[in-house]
Amino acid sequence: MAGGARVVAIVGGASGMGAASARRFAAAGDVVVVLDRNDPAEGALPVGVDVRRLDVTDSAACDAAVAGIVRDHGRLDVLVNAAGIIARMGTLDTSDDDWRRIFAVNLDGLFYASRAAARAMLATGGGAIVNIASISGMVASPNLTAYCTSKGAVVMLTRAMAIDFARQNIRVNAVCPGEVDTPLLRGGGRSERLDDAAIAALGERLVPTGKVADPDEIAAVIQFLASPEASYMTGTTVPVDAGYTVV
Ligand code: NAI
Repeated sequence: MAGGARVVAIVGGASGMGAASARRFAAAGDVVVVLDRNDPAEGALPVGVDVRRLDVTDSAACDAAVAGIVRDHGRLDVLVNAAGIIARMGTLDTSDDDWRRIFAVNLDGLFYASRAAARAMLATGGGAIVNIASISGMVASPNLTAYCTSKGAVVMLTRAMAIDFARQNIRVNAVCPGEVDTPLLRGGGRSERLDDAAIAALGERLVPTGKVADPDEIAAVIQFLASPEASYMTGTTVPVDAGYTVV
């Protein structure tokens, strides 16, 4: 990964923190491939970003997506796992299907994409994987049973993969964002979409600094963890939460 443009794949890069990461890596001159089940919103990604369809819950499709990147761009240096979904429901409200749907994206998909990426990285001498977990993987909240559990598992999967690849120059780290202003926070699993005033009130109520994060404030840390500057970091989960988890 020394010098030159790196090839960076961002699963879930069509929106939110994934899209913010895509903009940052592209601005730094990296070759950026966004893999998402949805199209990006108009203007969300800079010209030149290679956007491809992927449902990350499909293991074979993840293998094929990575093979396609290696075929077309020659290698894969960085994977950012930013795909995720939320369901706001507690233990008794969570059906078998709800449970599986959350785990299929947040955990299984992250595993499939990471395994495929690691195989490609091993072939070229290494790389970096950055997972978006959550403060919900560190502390529990009411009515987020499946979501919290899936994110706790992402924290441990990050550690397990980091150790698996520790001698093979693949670093695996995670960020644990707090409240971030994305379509997932505004809409995901809610009966009513939060408007700007509701987002401000949520920040005031829940976040020690009183503010909800801009997605770019998380993307900055993702970019750092993927960079050679973070060469001595692997297996870590970095809270980016304005103090949420230290109260
Ligand atoms: P977002 O909804 O803006 O972006 C998520 C992206 O994942 C979307 O583009 C969506 O199409 C994609 N995606 C969902 N299912 C997929 C699938 N099966 N295959 C491929 N792509 C799929 O949400 P946001 O907030 O940017 O979320 C990114 C990650 O950050 C998620 O894992 C989320 O759980 C996590 N997170 C979000 C927080 C927040 O406050 N917004 C806080 C902490 C963590």
